[in-house]
Amino acid sequence: MPVDLLQRNVPLHGLNSFGLPAHAGWFASIDTLAQLTALMNLPEWASLPRFILGGGSNLVLTGDFAGLMLHVRIAGREQIAEEMDAWIVRAGAGENWHDFVCWTLAHGWPGLENLALIPGTVGAAPVQNIGAYGLEIAERFEYLEAVDLETGKIVRFDHAASQFGYRDSVFKREAAGRYLITAVAFRLPKRWRPVTCYADLAQELETRQIASPTARQIADAVMAIRLRKLPDPARIGNVGSFFKNPLVDAATFAHLADRYPGLPRYLQPNGTIKLAAGWLIERCGWKGRNLGPAGVYEHQALVLVNRGGANGVDVLRLARAIQASVQTEFGIELELEPVVL
Ligand code: EPU
Repeated sequence: MPVDLLQRNVPLHGLNSFGLPAHAGWFASIDTLAQLTALMNLPEWASLPRFILGGGSNLVLTGDFAGLMLHVRIAGREQIAEEMDAWIVRAGAGENWHDFVCWTLAHGWPGLENLALIPGTVGAAPVQNIGAYGLEIAERFEYLEAVDLETGKIVRFDHAASQFGYRDSVFKREAAGRYLITAVAFRLPKRWRPVTCYADLAQELETRQIASPTARQIADAVMAIRLRKLPDPARIGNVGSFFKNPLVDAATFAHLADRYPGLPRYLQPNGTIKLAAGWLIERCGWKGRNLGPAGVYEHQALVLVNRGGANGVDVLRLARAIQASVQTEFGIELELEPVVL
């Protein structure tokens, strides 16, 4: 095993989409399972706390990490089966998510088009059950493979075992840090039907005068909306939505809707109502405002941005101030969406 697999004091500035400054005391890139096995046999392995890093696009680094950061870069994309009603495709956890979506579309396998241009890696996608424009990854998920970092065994998680929820899965909760996801498989439907229910997407397709869109046309429309509304992490540091959209019961919603006509609502299958956190934040006057070097994006109040030179503490200070405003104005607690380290 090459000894330099394990690096010391590695800067993380370029490895998180917020561009936050921090160092990892220990760091290893994982390109193959053999490298991971070799790492697990090192004497340092048992004693160091670990953190698994994908694209770093849903992460707030609040300072240096003294433990071992495992940077997953496992590559590979393939069709592994063709069934009567679906194509099953599989990708290495380190593959770029958007490139993977484009690859499926180029092969004529629809199903992931609503999730175009989401930053991050394939391996990170199921962790927070990425979703956009009416579709969540859970709806196309077949299974994932992971290495149990406690036993070294390769394990497979199917849909039920992954316990998907809104921006949530078992990998964000009980299983956090225990499993290193190495590959994810997706079921892409042959009898595909476009998902165009999301208001912004329906509007964009109408503007483009597309009545029966192809998957590629949906991807193009989604990309255009995202480019308009969301900052490009390559230019302005951010992690997409910084808060989850809060869920409230019908009585709470009725009370709020009386006071705030026009409050956006999304009725959930279980009868609860999802509110738009961006609307609440904008209503509190935060849209486009800064607190030190951290700010609220001017085109989408749910996105916090690095105006230049911000660190994780600056970002969390802004987040806490926003949470306090929303709590005072609406009596609603906003929950952070990214992982805070
Ligand atoms: N709104 C405002 N002001 C704002 C932002 C939004 O009034 O500054 C209102 C909009 O007018 C609309 C509603 O809030 O009525 C919803 O806005 P939008 O369609 O932009 O979506 P969102 O709820 O803010 C969610 C996801 C995004 C995803 C979009 C599209 C979460 C936490 N965020 O945002 O996901 O791209 O829907 O599906 O669920 C991410 O998770 O990082 C992410 C970007």
